[in-house]
Amino acid sequence: MEDGKTRHAIMHGLNPFVPGAGRQPKDLAGREHELEIMDRIIARTKAGYSNQGLVYSGLRGVGKTVLLLKMRDMVTEGGLLAIRLEATQDPKHDYAAIFEGVSKAILKERDKSLRESLLAAVKHVNEVSVHIGVLQASFGPSRDEEAPTSESLVLEMMVEELCTTLKKHNSGLFLFIDEFQEMPKELMGTIIGLQHTMGQDDLPFYVIAAGLPNLPGVLTKSRSYAERLFEYRQIGSLPENETRDCYIKTISRVSRFEDDALDRLVTLSQGYPYFIQAYGSAAFEASDSSPIPLSAVDKGEPVAREVLDRGLYESRWQRARPSEREYMRAMASIGKELCSSSEIAERLKRPVSEVARIRKGLIESGLAYAPERGYLSFSVPGMGDFIRRAAPLPEQIYDRKE
Ligand SMILES: Nc1ncnc2c1ncn2[C@@H]1O[C@H](COP(=O)(O)OP(=O)(O)OP(=O)(O)O)[C@@H](O)[C@H]1O
Ligand SMILES: [Mg+2]
Repeated sequence: MEDGKTRHAIMHGLNPFVPGAGRQPKDLAGREHELEIMDRIIARTKAGYSNQGLVYSGLRGVGKTVLLLKMRDMVTEGGLLAIRLEATQDPKHDYAAIFEGVSKAILKERDKSLRESLLAAVKHVNEVSVHIGVLQASFGPSRDEEAPTSESLVLEMMVEELCTTLKKHNSGLFLFIDEFQEMPKELMGTIIGLQHTMGQDDLPFYVIAAGLPNLPGVLTKSRSYAERLFEYRQIGSLPENETRDCYIKTISRVSRFEDDALDRLVTLSQGYPYFIQAYGSAAFEASDSSPIPLSAVDKGEPVAREVLDRGLYESRWQRARPSEREYMRAMASIGKELCSSSEIAERLKRPVSEVARIRKGLIESGLAYAPERGYLSFSVPGMGDFIRRAAPLPEQIYDRKE
């Protein structure tokens, strides 16, 4: 028979909770409908029908990245081509990630004749792309920072050539873009334009993107017609019954929670996916018996808070400018989800116009967003609580790379 110690060791090796950005949970709770939507798009693509792209938006830690990863796997398992990238503010990086993604996806294609046709399409684009510079030079340099670059023209030709070939094979090209709001303007415009023209030509190209709550606005600002190109969906925290089910399913292979332990976890996590994983993981580690008792949840609670402080809040606080920290402290002191810009300015004892620049900086760096005109909320759930609880000082080490 196992003694307590052995069982303890075994259990710890088997912790099924995975708190951490982009880590695939054992149970992807509450996203069945989203997966059905993806299933439908895949089926339609294989049947030769076109579809809109998809754009997901939500707060930090609600599970955008893992949803996109799961969808990417569904596409590749369905035998279609998928590219995934996390957008940065660097156009060179983002273009390179897309072109690399295209190469990898083609090399992984199992159908030999399709693979060869795709390679031939890329070869053709490479051959003609050497003339782009000559053509651009003959029309004179453009002063418009959003004018097409040679990379964007190559990308457009490449996608068109590939999708024409893919359509003949009842396949399609899926571009998964995480943190889409970060993408440089010119490339974002090119990609939205591609979704538009490929749709008009009935070619199978789909952008499946995720980002912060400001993403839909950023896209429409880039191209006004972006509004009708995508299906916009929000993802957020899970309702109580799904949170409970997620705990039950996640633990079911290795143990279970006592009823009162489960109740406490549901309350602590408030349905936020990152919190679910953090409190679940800490309770598991704190327990040396199975089923896991309430005392283990209580013992794990401060540990989970530490994990969340480090994983979600501290690094963001450190990256904020001192003036942005003052502004966030004012938001936190108001203590509401929605803070009106005028109330924040009042707390800072400065006119609204004077602090508008700080507000803009917070939105641009993704720390806050404007759910409605004149209001601001934190993009990270629980950030206000953290600031009130940990009372970090505005003058703490400033750690932003400029
Ligand atoms: N549907 C879900 N069910 C259970 N756990 C989930 C779910 N979605 C995400 N998680 C967990 O939540 C955490 C955060 O997930 P993820 O990194 O995908 O969030 P995100 O929305 O991309 O966050 P960010 O905006 O910071 O990039 C991970 O630990 C992940 O395992
Ligand atoms: Mg993410």
